[in-house]
Amino acid sequence: MPYQRKPTRAQLRRERMQEMVNFPLDWLEERSGLVGGVRYFLFRKVPSDTNWMQTLGSAALTAFLVQAITGVILAMYYKPDPKDAYSSIQNITDHVTLGWLVRGMHKWGASVFIILMFLHMGRVFLFGAYKYPRELNWIVGVLILVMGMMEGFTGYLLPWDQTAYWATVVGINLNGTAPFLGPWLAQFLRGGQEIGAETLTRFYSLHMLVVPGAIFALIGLHLYLIIRLGVSSPPWSKEEAGGDRVETNGHGALRPGLTRPVARGTGGQK
Ligand code: HEM
Repeated sequence: MPYQRKPTRAQLRRERMQEMVNFPLDWLEERSGLVGGVRYFLFRKVPSDTNWMQTLGSAALTAFLVQAITGVILAMYYKPDPKDAYSSIQNITDHVTLGWLVRGMHKWGASVFIILMFLHMGRVFLFGAYKYPRELNWIVGVLILVMGMMEGFTGYLLPWDQTAYWATVVGINLNGTAPFLGPWLAQFLRGGQEIGAETLTRFYSLHMLVVPGAIFALIGLHLYLIIRLGVSSPPWSKEEAGGDRVETNGHGALRPGLTRPVARGTGGQK
C-alpha cells in the first residue's frame, strides 16, 4: 500500500472551511440552479475587443442602484403632505445623521443617472449596437429612458417649495397641450383641478413605487436580452456587427449583425 501522509492541522482546517462555504451554496444550487446561473452570467464569453465605452451601461446601473438605496433612506423621514413636506426635508438636511449627504447623493445622483443613460444611449447609437438582433433591447432602453425622466419630474415636486411647485405647474401644463390625451394626462397628474395635496401624494406614489418598480422590471429584461444576445463588438472590430460575414443557423444564412462572442485574450480568433 502506498505511503499516505497524514494531513496537517492546517490542511484539515482548510478542508473544513471549504465544506462550510460549499454546503449552503450546494444546497441553494440543488434547489434553484441559482449558483450555476450567476456563474454563467459572470464567466460568459464577451468579444475580446470590448471598449471602455461599453461600461457606460453598468455605470448607469450603478447610478440607478445608488438612487434606489438613498431613496429608501429618504422615504423613512420624508412626509408626503403639504403641511409637513418642506419641514421634513429641512429636518433631513439639518438634523438627521448624515441626512445632508444622503439627500445630496439622491439629488445630484438623479442628474448623474440621466446623463449616464444618455451617454450609454449615444454609445449604443454610435456603435450601431441597436441594429439586428438588438432592436428590442433598444426599445426597452427607450422605455427606461422615459421612466428615468418621469422619476426626475415626479421627484422635483416632493420638497414642496416654490421652485418645485412652479416647475410642476409648467410640466403639467406642457403635458396638457399634447394632442388627444393631453387634458386627461394633466388631470391625472394633478389628481384634480388644482395642484395640491392630491398631486403631492400622487407624485410620491409614482416616484417611489410605480416608476422605480417599472424601471427595475425593465432593467431585468434589458439585462436578460444582453445575456441572451451577447455584447456586440465595436465598429472597428474585425468581426463588427453589420459586417458582411454570413452566418448560418441550419436554416440558411442569417442577416448580418449577430456577432458571435469570442473569449477574452484570443485576439478575436475563433
Ligand atoms: C437604467 C438605464 C440603463 C441601464 C442600467 C442599462 C444597462 C445596460 C448594460 C449593463 C448593457 C451592457 C453593456 C453596455 O453595452 O454598456 C447595456 C446594453 C445595451 N443598452 Fe442599455 N441600459 C440602460 C439604458 C439604455 C437606453 C436608454 C438605451 C437606448 C435607448 C439602451 C440600449 C441598449 C442596447 C441596444 C444595448 C446592447 C448593446 C450591445 O450589445 O453592444 N440602454 N445596457
